[in-house]
Amino acid sequence: MGKHIVLCISGGIAAYKSMFLIRLFKKNGYEVKVVTTKNALQFVTPLTIETLSQNKLYSDMFDINRTLDVEHIALAEWADAVIVAPATANIIGKFANGIADDAVSTLLLATKKTIFIAPAMNTNMLEDLSVQRNLQIIKDKGCFILSPKDGFLACGSNGKGRMLEPEDIFNIVDEKLSQDSKLAGKKVMITAGPTYEQIDPVRFIGNNSSGLMGFCLAEEAAKNGADVTLITGPTALTTKHSKIIRVDVKSAEEMYDQCLNIAKNQDIMIMAAAVADFTPAHKATEKIKKENANLTLELTKTKDILASIGQIKNDNQTLVGFALETQNEVENAKKKLYTKNADFIVLNSLKTKGAGFQTSTNQITIFSKNGDVFDSELKSKQEIATIILQTVTKID
Ligand code: CTP
Repeated sequence: MGKHIVLCISGGIAAYKSMFLIRLFKKNGYEVKVVTTKNALQFVTPLTIETLSQNKLYSDMFDINRTLDVEHIALAEWADAVIVAPATANIIGKFANGIADDAVSTLLLATKKTIFIAPAMNTNMLEDLSVQRNLQIIKDKGCFILSPKDGFLACGSNGKGRMLEPEDIFNIVDEKLSQDSKLAGKKVMITAGPTYEQIDPVRFIGNNSSGLMGFCLAEEAAKNGADVTLITGPTALTTKHSKIIRVDVKSAEEMYDQCLNIAKNQDIMIMAAAVADFTPAHKATEKIKKENANLTLELTKTKDILASIGQIKNDNQTLVGFALETQNEVENAKKKLYTKNADFIVLNSLKTKGAGFQTSTNQITIFSKNGDVFDSELKSKQEIATIILQTVTKID
């Protein structure tokens, strides 16, 4: 799936050019959703916008037919980037000063994603001290101002204030988004799920891992342009992204074999699987009968996949392990970082409510081998996956 653009259109004549902008993004594989001010709809029609974007227009915050999602919040989350083109003096003023009284201004305050502002107005308006001050405030917030060009203006004069051409806006946004994606073209191996250690043909030793954390990591990495190999133990989960190659395994030994083979040419390896530490020393070929009152199983240690990769990895490879702890969490997690020669360890504490196994949420602390520590709040596993990937790709 392509990256997500939320295009905000405010009420200036350059709004017609934004129709070309929608087409450019769509042609290049982006998904586009459009938000307009009321005035913008004096210049362009909902039908044009919806036909080009193939998505529902969002303009009226109090539309009786709207879905139950709080749309400005949902869109703020959905977007990879938000573009305001054209941005009138009015919307610039609102955004700079924290006013949220319509769909566009509300969305701008609600999003934490990269915002690009493409002003379009008459030269005198653009040069007005308050507009310049507002643009500076917006720049200081970390947004990108796509400075208007000199040229023929709709008011009949020549001067500065003409919105950048759609091609130029597209190129700037497209370049910025691909730079952001440090995972583009990287090979990422992820393990997920439990392993099943067979006792006899009908019974096994397993654990509570659902595999969700590893699957979320795989989806997020693939969405950001990585070529992902997901090696997973038994789970009901499915993969959606075409850039994920899924390798199904059952036992710790099978997972070990696949991982050691695939790890050789990977850039990043994330070991999120809950691998069994012990496996039955003898696997009965026939079902064990309950003739005896007690049954004693002899278990032997499995090979530690993370530690084995830690021994053979080179300096260009990033190795990320997980630590699932119930006591002395920090101490144990840090110990695993060194004993397994990982670059990062992601600590899950089973003591935190809503974190770890069989939940859709997680709370983590990431320890890096350089001594850095990153703490997250309790968030959905999708969001946690983003945090993990952002953190582990920061390394040089
Ligand atoms: N791991 C592995 N191979 C194993 C066991 C664990 O690769 N045979 C990996 C897990 O995928 C995880 C990390 O090692 O990334 C830590 O797993 P965890 O169960 O927390 O710790 P263990 O190493 O098994 O140690 P202990 O059970 O003593 O805490």
